[in-house]
Amino acid sequence: MPDAGRAIEVCADPEAVADAAARRFVKTAARAVARQGRFSVVLAGGSTPGRLYRKLGAAPYAGAIDWDRVEIFWGDERDVPPDDAESNYRMAVENLLSRVQVPPRNVHPIHIAGQPQDAAHDYETVLQSFLERPPGRFDLVLLGLGDDGHTASLFPGTEAVRRAVAHQGDTSRRVAAQFVEKLGAWRITLTPAVINQAAQIIFVVTGQPKADTLAAVLQGPYRPLQLPAQLIHPRQGELIWMLDSPAAHLLKDFNRDQC
Ligand code: 6PG
Repeated sequence: MPDAGRAIEVCADPEAVADAAARRFVKTAARAVARQGRFSVVLAGGSTPGRLYRKLGAAPYAGAIDWDRVEIFWGDERDVPPDDAESNYRMAVENLLSRVQVPPRNVHPIHIAGQPQDAAHDYETVLQSFLERPPGRFDLVLLGLGDDGHTASLFPGTEAVRRAVAHQGDTSRRVAAQFVEKLGAWRITLTPAVINQAAQIIFVVTGQPKADTLAAVLQGPYRPLQLPAQLIHPRQGELIWMLDSPAAHLLKDFNRDQC
């Protein structure tokens, strides 16, 4: 897996990882607002980012971000209503967006109504109109890692992953809906192509249960059909893996950034 432009930062525990990720978020946001007057971020779902989002919604980080200029998107969503306990939108609202003042027009959830394919098509339109404006890419994409090597809702063996492996340069599709056999559920996900166009991509991965998968993704053979997170490498941007020691303990001989 190409490691150009890839950094690995290892902190002692999830709390330290969340603080370090919050510091990077603040810095990236300030840089984007200074450069272009706004900062666009794609939020990750799942449970890991909750700690980071709560930190961003509180001192000292909340006051260091110009929330009025922040545009919020999601990397994936479950096929559930926005008030469902499984909803990534709800998780972000509970942990962050209910605590800071982002203008409602700047909050772009994946709208789940009717067929999953319709949700994907609708979000494709949302992204199309946003990415038509400069700089034409997201400033930051936050991602997690599943213990099967998935990221966002790019699960092993799914159509979006097969398509991405077959057509690595294909940027025609930004959003995909797919039935995930192992979950017995539909998911809507951004494609690797649109993620890889981002200026900065940050994976936040903590906990010993992720260690084997993390070592396979970062230091094992390149096999993206089985480990879709290996499809994530920015075309012209920065990739940062923010890990705690238990998750990183199987990694060998790498340049670790000091947390
Ligand atoms: C989701 C996420 C998914 C998540 C991983 C890790 O919707 O579940 O987008 O990609 O990041 O499954 O989840 P945890 O953080 O809960 O381990």
